[in-house]
Amino acid sequence: MKKETKVIEAGRSSKWTNGVVNPSVQRASTVVFDSVKDMKNAAVNKTNQTLFYGRRGTTTSFAFSDAMTEIEGGAGCALYPSGTAAITNAIISFVKTGDHILMVDSAYEPTRDFCDKILSKMGVTTTYYDPLIGKGIEALIQENTSIVFLESPGSITMEVQDVPGIAEVAHKHNCIVMLDNTWGAGINFRPFDYGVDVSVQAATKYIVGHSDVMLGTATATEKLWPQLRENSYIMGQCTSPDDLYLALRGIRTLSVRLNQHQQSALKIANWLAQRPEVETVLHPALPSCPGHEYFERDFSGSNGLFSFVLNRGNQAAITALLDGMKHFKMGYSWGGFESLILAISSIKSMRTVTDWKYEYPLIRLHVGLENVDDLINDLENGFARLNDVLDK
Ligand SMILES: Cc1ncc(COP(=O)(O)O)c(C=O)c1O
Repeated sequence: MKKETKVIEAGRSSKWTNGVVNPSVQRASTVVFDSVKDMKNAAVNKTNQTLFYGRRGTTTSFAFSDAMTEIEGGAGCALYPSGTAAITNAIISFVKTGDHILMVDSAYEPTRDFCDKILSKMGVTTTYYDPLIGKGIEALIQENTSIVFLESPGSITMEVQDVPGIAEVAHKHNCIVMLDNTWGAGINFRPFDYGVDVSVQAATKYIVGHSDVMLGTATATEKLWPQLRENSYIMGQCTSPDDLYLALRGIRTLSVRLNQHQQSALKIANWLAQRPEVETVLHPALPSCPGHEYFERDFSGSNGLFSFVLNRGNQAAITALLDGMKHFKMGYSWGGFESLILAISSIKSMRTVTDWKYEYPLIRLHVGLENVDDLINDLENGFARLNDVLDK
């Protein structure tokens, strides 16, 4: 089944939809049983898809979990109240005191914070590695390394990783390969085809797609799914059925939305590459992006999120550029229908083992579904404001 069809059909088993197109919003804490026998049966396996108690899920969450498993692959999908909760819980499910994990240096900041501030207290050590290390990761694997964590592309600096190369080496040493697959959104990068064991997403972004829900998912291979599922249950992770309904609705348009995000973002990225103010464009589909060759090899599409680096600028000029934007709003998220812009001047302080060679700020764009010429116009006016300040 092609990805466009999959997002339409995923999770729509009649078990959950009860004869209509969409599953209903089933809100529940308490489940009631007609007999002692029914109650005992429901309790037998506290983590499977039968109604038992609200925290274990309702038909709405079972439908969403199934949908994500069908889209991403793997044996099952655990749900969390945010992408960050999915990352931290997935890691915790597979480490113990005394372990060591390898974390990509371009990881999302809260992922790093979790390693530095929480895992460290649990006696789990972290070594950061260059996102472009590829099979060279072998030199960093220790006797006690249990997880190799990837984020590809990195959501700010956009390096694309050699996922199958890293996975091959990691598996040789019995390490679990975990990927933050938020950018790939499950349909443009198929994690389990490339050796990933646990794929995590901030469904907050493209899965939901409308900037109105916080949600996280972790899908896992047949081998790891029971442990992930049990851990997530024990840790009390559950999600609101209303939010899951919105996420299910988001999934149905995932493919068409991503196509449009992709088309507009590529047009803007190519336009930016010609601008005199731009040092480099970090878009995985352009050869100027580190790891572009892995994007070409492993991905079936891109989306609206990419960055570029300025070749001039100071605080006042960047502020003038940002403050006057009409369509690109300033915001820390991405993956919704709307365009967003973010300037970051301190990439160096966000990493520990890789160099950042650029002097001027990085600007991250999320290209939304507005008319692309309006967006280019907005950026063009932004550059005019930047230049006005600098040329004064
Ligand atoms: C790549 C990536 N992973 C994970 C997250 C965390 O998701 P959430 O904000 O839902 O916790 C984000 C959020 O910005 C992200 O960009």
